[in-house]
Amino acid sequence: MSDAYLSLEKLTLAYGDTVAVGNLDLDIGKGELIALLGPSGCGKTTTMRAIAGLLPVKSGHIRLDGTDMTRTPPNKRAVGLVFQSYALFPHLSVYENVAFGLKLKGMRGSELDQKVRGGLTSVGLSSFADRKPAELSGGQQQRVALARSMVMEPKVLLLDEPLSNLDARLRLEMRTELQRVQKETGVTMIFVTHDQTEALSLADRIVVMKNGAIEQIGTPEDIYNRPASAFVADFVGFENIFALDQGKLKTEHGLADPSGALPGEALSAAGLAWRPRMVTLGSGPFRGTVRGTSFAGDRREYLLASDLGPIKAEVDASEPVHAPDAEIAFDLPAAKAAPLKRFA
Ligand SMILES: Nc1ncnc2c1ncn2[C@@H]1O[C@H](COP(=O)(O)OP(=O)(O)O)[C@@H](O)[C@H]1O
Ligand SMILES: [Mg+2]
Repeated sequence: MSDAYLSLEKLTLAYGDTVAVGNLDLDIGKGELIALLGPSGCGKTTTMRAIAGLLPVKSGHIRLDGTDMTRTPPNKRAVGLVFQSYALFPHLSVYENVAFGLKLKGMRGSELDQKVRGGLTSVGLSSFADRKPAELSGGQQQRVALARSMVMEPKVLLLDEPLSNLDARLRLEMRTELQRVQKETGVTMIFVTHDQTEALSLADRIVVMKNGAIEQIGTPEDIYNRPASAFVADFVGFENIFALDQGKLKTEHGLADPSGALPGEALSAAGLAWRPRMVTLGSGPFRGTVRGTSFAGDRREYLLASDLGPIKAEVDASEPVHAPDAEIAFDLPAAKAAPLKRFA
């Protein structure tokens, strides 16, 4: 096998007879921050639960740090799990919440005290030790949950949509915080999210999942700029996606010639995709009718009806405004398109 720190090998997970994750292979390096990204129901939580030992494995293996732990009980795995709901003990102080797991392991006295205080310091909560969870904000509660997991010194820390209960500003703050804690401690982290921005900004590598299988693995740049399939392209904001048939765009009204020569790698592609801002408005070989427009601060978005089907375009708000029902020329420059290896 590879020198991966955590390996999922042909992992199949099921609820009764219903397979939720099928034949999943994934190697994760020590100290990596991996984001599992995908729509609701694609199997992210199921995968996390199996790694944590909370869901029996139907077939396949989980290896961590050289040991097969497919059948190891959860408390013997050195895997930490932080959920979306913080699940703190409401009647215990912040200090006691963080100390809880360490005490269960038999830790006492000054060693315990040092660990707990260190954990609270690392998440910026040292002056909140005596508070009860109800006296903290959502973001602070999530920090306690993070400290509580980190003091156990897990080999892998799993975070299942830990920020989705927080408001936008706190989410951004916690994102930075998580990244800092991860870089400082070097803990291997798997972070589950259905929010592409969160995955792009946090992860070393992103694993995009669809229907219980991996659709693409890559760096944030790979996923954002070089989506492998129409599914990934759509998920990361390419809104103009066409299948290719013998070098032509497949549209609702038959095949259309792309504009300009296809780049080399696109010749064998199954499809081409353009972000709205890759569309040229006001010139080009295609014609569209403005069906909708929306102002987005520095940008303006247009929905066009065209012979190619509906087209989403986004231009600088300082450009001339096109009125509803106006007919305008547009271009989908082949040179700018992201080639898709798979179309399904
Ligand atoms: N306890 C359960 N019993 C039966 N099916 C479940 C259970 N939990 C999840 N599933 C199903 O397994 C699939 C994957 O779910 P899940 O891993 O929770 O997705 P995600 O976390 O990506 O939203 C879904 O189709 C879901 O309906
Ligand atoms: Mg989930």
